[in-house]
Amino acid sequence: MRDRILEYLKKTDSYISGEELSRHLKVSRAAVWKHIQELRLSGYEIVAVPHLGYHLTACPDKLLPQEISFGLETKSFGKKIYYYDTIGSTMDAAMEAGLKGALEGTVIIAETQTKGRGRLARHWLSPKYKGIYFSLILRPKLLPQETPRLTLLSAVAVCEAIKEVSRLDVNIKWPNDILINEKKLGGILTELSAETDEVRFIVIGIGINVNTDKTQALPHATSLKEENGETISRAALVKAILKRLEINYQIFKKQGFHPIIDKWRHFSSTLGSRIKVTCQKEHIEGEAIDIDMDGGLLVRKDSGFIEKVMAGDVVKLG
Ligand code: BTN
Repeated sequence: MRDRILEYLKKTDSYISGEELSRHLKVSRAAVWKHIQELRLSGYEIVAVPHLGYHLTACPDKLLPQEISFGLETKSFGKKIYYYDTIGSTMDAAMEAGLKGALEGTVIIAETQTKGRGRLARHWLSPKYKGIYFSLILRPKLLPQETPRLTLLSAVAVCEAIKEVSRLDVNIKWPNDILINEKKLGGILTELSAETDEVRFIVIGIGINVNTDKTQALPHATSLKEENGETISRAALVKAILKRLEINYQIFKKQGFHPIIDKWRHFSSTLGSRIKVTCQKEHIEGEAIDIDMDGGLLVRKDSGFIEKVMAGDVVKLG
């Protein structure tokens, strides 16, 4: 009911009376008043004027499910959202939800994480109300070794969404770093629950520095606010990401991985450069020439030999 009242308030440019709300929603005016009070407590600014009614003047800058659902252009992604003010890691909550049978498209989102994690077991800084930290559950029919394709697909979706919302030029550093001007803006972490030859479900974790200040980020990192000087609506960006994820996932299911690879190449800042990849204690140096159907990076070494790398950290040389 609260969500429906909010929807009416958002749709109405001026005032809407308690009587009108109670008539449309078939509840008493006292019930409307109670829900208005609750909305105010969660940060919505609602003016109440006698004989005129209610007017919504500001929404909280929070990633509340009703903020994401409003105007969300997807069929299934984000239709079920578990929201946390503070959590250890959305990856763990998503794993738990997945094991309990959560549907494809379920999202676990948090305002901050105390144990946010990144690739290669690194810590992921998650300052409160500043970034986007969420995990999405997918149930594709894939072999476990094919799951890196979804990491690449997600990186493409994030870039498309950022471009749509901010107009900034974003790139992907293989495999899944989202960069602006060679500085890290975000990343994607994929974890899975699988049998030997079948994926049960996949969790795609997405972290983006949105309105994060310089002091809250690592030295080589940046945020959308740092780059364009403006605060960005985190809810609008989450909606755009979910939309692009769903579109690309449908393309992938219907047409395969080729169209996704093409899009990935378009955003890549790695291909065509001379690079060094560090994988555990091994280094490989050469030209990054392409990625293959497994999402592996193909590096042409000086000897001419082409080596395929499946994991590691890439540094551009010169
Ligand atoms: C990386 O670049 O290393 C990947 C970072 C992924 C961070 C996100 S934030 C939401 C989700 N929860 C986590 O603990 N990690 C991912």
